[in-house]
Amino acid sequence: MSNNNPIDSSPREGCPVHDWATDFDVMDPGYNRDPGPIWKDLRERCPIAHSTRWGGSWMPTRYDDVRDMARAVPTLSSRAPGVIPPSPEMREILIQEVKEFGAELPPISADPPLHKPFKQLILPLFSPKAVETYRPFTEKLANNLIDKIINRGKVADGAVDYAQQLPPRVIAYIIGIDETRADEFTEWVRGILEQGQANPEIRLKYRRIIRDYFQEMIAERRRNPRDDAISKLMEAKIEGENLSDYTIIGVCFLLLVAGIDTTWSSIGSALFHFGTKTDHRNRMYAEPELFPTAIEELLRFYSPVKMARRVLEPVAFGGVEMQPGDKVIMNFPAANRDPEVFENPDEVMLDREQNRHMAFGVGIHRCAGSNLARMEMDVALRTWFNRIKDFEVIQPEKVIWSGGQVRGPRVMPMRIAGA
Ligand code: HEM
Repeated sequence: MSNNNPIDSSPREGCPVHDWATDFDVMDPGYNRDPGPIWKDLRERCPIAHSTRWGGSWMPTRYDDVRDMARAVPTLSSRAPGVIPPSPEMREILIQEVKEFGAELPPISADPPLHKPFKQLILPLFSPKAVETYRPFTEKLANNLIDKIINRGKVADGAVDYAQQLPPRVIAYIIGIDETRADEFTEWVRGILEQGQANPEIRLKYRRIIRDYFQEMIAERRRNPRDDAISKLMEAKIEGENLSDYTIIGVCFLLLVAGIDTTWSSIGSALFHFGTKTDHRNRMYAEPELFPTAIEELLRFYSPVKMARRVLEPVAFGGVEMQPGDKVIMNFPAANRDPEVFENPDEVMLDREQNRHMAFGVGIHRCAGSNLARMEMDVALRTWFNRIKDFEVIQPEKVIWSGGQVRGPRVMPMRIAGA
């Protein structure tokens, strides 16, 4: 099979999908509600699907293919990691900026050799030891949120009132920006990753807001240096040179976006799971020692993040020939449901021991924030189960799920029985 599907000149975004093997739509609401059956079908009859929607892309569904593709660096390049491509106007801006200043969001949008020094720069912020120093702050935050939920009464939105509230404040605390503006940060990130995915004006608007904000923060640190991530990035050197403001802004931008939407989606999905599966909920109340395996299993089953790659030279995977310029979706979520690797992959097993999931990716771009994400999930779920006596999602079929780059529940009313 070769890529003889040119990019569609008459996109059908919003039209129903007739065949997921040749026309998949990563923004389809039904797919984002429950993608498992579609991946199962594709894995059996067309493991690397193709679509001309959203600029055209390949979408693997088997574990081995996704792993091999993620490792095929730099033949599959990370220079444009967005699942939904930017508008022509934004693409022009990006091409110009990259020519002038280098990668936009390093390390996630950088290929070797540029990738490694940037990764090394940020990893110390998220080492297991560093992450433990953020735990008390996260626990206090989770308890304050639960106080508010309990005071408010018997109904709360598990996505809006809890899951969405934690990660923006934790990452703001780490970067060294004003936690009290967390609601604005969330709005900006949603502007980029949700509303802005299919709306270039919104995407550009929020990109500008975020970049301007970090430019101000850099100017402020020049006047008053501090002991925070922004100041550390300003002092850092790569090959003897300080980073440009453009690059410091890019790294902070990435940390803000990567730190918010992903983890909030995972916490929300976990609450969705326990709020819809009474037996699993009761088991967690009875056996809290299951939290470590349960969290890994929920990360596997509800993996929120897909990324994209650009093909730089002709290459073949699983019999599919790809050409320079093709886009490939790193479908880590589908890989995590592959029956070749996971027993009963479409079932959540809270005590699953063998669980080499790829929710955090694989290869050189593997998530830099995985220790932080795990700590936040651990604190969020333990605090919730400790403080809330019982809970359930009110109408599971009405929960609204985001899709495209990051999948997670965005509106999820729940009945709550307080402490
Ligand atoms: C449950 C939560 C999270 C999930 C599922 C997740 C998932 C991922 C995935 C799949 C990648 C690989 C990207 C690729 O292959 O192109 C990635 C990269 C990355 N993540 Fe996360 N992430 C999460 C939380 C976080 C947090 C809290 C941070 C902290 C700021 C973070 C920072 C990053 C960074 C900086 C990269 C780029 C690494 C590189 O390019 O080398 N992530 N993440």
